[in-house]
Amino acid sequence: MDKNLIKKKYKEKIKLINHYNKKYFNENKPLINDSEYDQLKVEIYNLEKKYSFLRDKNSPSFNVGFKPSKIFKKFTHKVPMLSLSNAFSQEDLLNFEKRIKNYLDKKSDIEIEYSVEPKIDGISASLTYKNGKFLRGLSRGDGNEGEDITQNLKTIKDIPDYIKEKDFPEEIDIRGEVFIQNSDFKKLRDKFANPRNAASGSLRQKNPIDTKKIPLKFIAYTYGYQKGLNENRQTDFIKKLIDWGFRVNPFNRQISGIKNLIKNYIDLESKRSDLDFDIDGIVYKVNDFDLQKRLGNVASAPRWAIAHKFSSNKAISKIISIDIQVGRTGALTPVAKIKPINIGGVIVSNATLHNEDEIIRKDVRVSDTVTVERAGDVIPHILSVELKKRPKDSVKFSFPIRCPSCGSKTIKDFNLITKKKDAVRRCSSEGYYCEKVAIEKLKHFVSKDAFNIDGFGKKIVESFWKLNLIKFPQDIFRLDYGKIGKLDGWGRLSVENLKYSINTKKKISFERFIYALGIRHIGLENAKLLSKYFGSFSKLKNFVEKDNYDDLLNIDGIGETQVNSFRLFFTNDMNLKVLGELEKILIINNSFSVKKNGLLKDKTFLVTGKLQGMSRAEIKSLIELNSGTTVSGVSKKLNCLIVGEKPTKKKVESAKKLKIEILNQNQFLNMLNKSR
Ligand code: IVH
Repeated sequence: MDKNLIKKKYKEKIKLINHYNKKYFNENKPLINDSEYDQLKVEIYNLEKKYSFLRDKNSPSFNVGFKPSKIFKKFTHKVPMLSLSNAFSQEDLLNFEKRIKNYLDKKSDIEIEYSVEPKIDGISASLTYKNGKFLRGLSRGDGNEGEDITQNLKTIKDIPDYIKEKDFPEEIDIRGEVFIQNSDFKKLRDKFANPRNAASGSLRQKNPIDTKKIPLKFIAYTYGYQKGLNENRQTDFIKKLIDWGFRVNPFNRQISGIKNLIKNYIDLESKRSDLDFDIDGIVYKVNDFDLQKRLGNVASAPRWAIAHKFSSNKAISKIISIDIQVGRTGALTPVAKIKPINIGGVIVSNATLHNEDEIIRKDVRVSDTVTVERAGDVIPHILSVELKKRPKDSVKFSFPIRCPSCGSKTIKDFNLITKKKDAVRRCSSEGYYCEKVAIEKLKHFVSKDAFNIDGFGKKIVESFWKLNLIKFPQDIFRLDYGKIGKLDGWGRLSVENLKYSINTKKKISFERFIYALGIRHIGLENAKLLSKYFGSFSKLKNFVEKDNYDDLLNIDGIGETQVNSFRLFFTNDMNLKVLGELEKILIINNSFSVKKNGLLKDKTFLVTGKLQGMSRAEIKSLIELNSGTTVSGVSKKLNCLIVGEKPTKKKVESAKKLKIEILNQNQFLNMLNKSR
């Protein structure tokens, strides 16, 4: 790769990480998860290691955290607040120790003693005491300069205001972590993604009264500047912290030898879900202060300490119960309720067990200790069971043979393609008679890609169903607004708004209508194919009467599975009744035939940002209707970028660079003579 290109890539990564830093440290808005952040940092370090010409004062190698925001007064830390390098494996630890021994010129068989401290995932703070009096508390800020958050810190009971002990140093910065206990976080779960964000948000309130409302805790673990400290070892210093009235971590240990560090790591990792505070790893510090001094720092981290991180996508927890969820298609999905655990910044309390076969295969039981994995956006799942930790009285989980929602028999379909019974067990009821299935079907009916009824969210569907306001889709259009107006939380305006959004959706495209019916195996794409094939709802009805379902196999993209499901749906009396009622209320637009030589022929489009009154699915069909195609990224092949509200800046910039035509929503619609 040429030098300029490498430099450009490097600068881009630094710009990106500083953008994430700004959001995270100054605005409490993490844009990416911890592992993605660590990955980006590693990429920058690796580039710097490989190409010595790469250097930037804004690189994370020279900076910790991010410049403090403007709300608080800033002060310089007398001794900078450093960060820690990370270790992810035994090998990393062996290398860490090897580096220390080499540096100190010690024999390899000599044992180094460590202070071993759980790494609480909170916000670090530095408290300046002079003659025993707590004078000022600073946040870490960028490591050199922190924000004056004294008043907020003073609301924390664990922080002593005055220390009388004679051996307390004349002047010292006590450093530690401000955090929120998991049990207190429970009450704030709806407001913050995890306890760390909650602690950070609370600590950065302008008004200390707001900080006081959230029960913050403080655990002390190190010091910055000091005058008159007599201890020689970190573990002795920690003991002193207790004497002086600070809280320290009850799981702090003194350990020698990498093998023993690993043992302790495994032990603590399995206890994580039992702890009342979040930890994201363990910190190992060379215990002897003289050795620490000799070892000193590299860039922004000490040579004498390392953070042994826990995996950011796996964690160990315990199964509290196994619940059976009933989905829109009647599928019974077992879900393990687990002791809440922080996996890479997200609190996980449910993990899917997929289906009955999966439970049998893994023999997962209530009270089991399990490893849970959370990867990307997929629902967390149980990876494995720790059989050694299984309680003696545990019993095999027996999967219900009756639907837990309506009591109907459950069945396993025979799959015509695999010639085997399905792994999924289903409720055999007639859809709308089973509470859970009915509610899920209605949620689907009003969802974004279906009827897209504004303000008709999942919670409203559930409550209206329970209040007997809606049992079938047609009921949505015949709501008793008088009754709704009398419900708690419903004012005149909100009732009017709901009425308006429902009425505007009485007119619907044929493809959305098919999708909204929630026929199994008929997603958006298949609904599109079917709507094109039939052209109109009346033609679909004629087709159903003729009973020649196999004709559908002629549609490219529709297979036997879809045809069977389609047949099953239209031979069900309940469904036919619902359709009959909906027909009386709705105007179902005929599907347009796609123009072969439309206005947008041979042109490619990409949409970025939020559109007004139009979903992505709708604009996509509009483009396709006029013979255009949509693509997923900006490249030379793109002809036109359609820009909505809050577009992805990078896409717009790249399009400008490539001189690609950029249109806003109206310009695009005008082009099609469809101005709104
Ligand atoms: S020592 C120079 N000890 O980890 C050493 N830090 O990435 C730096 N942390 O900013 C601090 N528990 O927020 C130390 N027992 C502990 C810790 C700890 C958590 C956090 C702290 C620090 C970050 C370093």
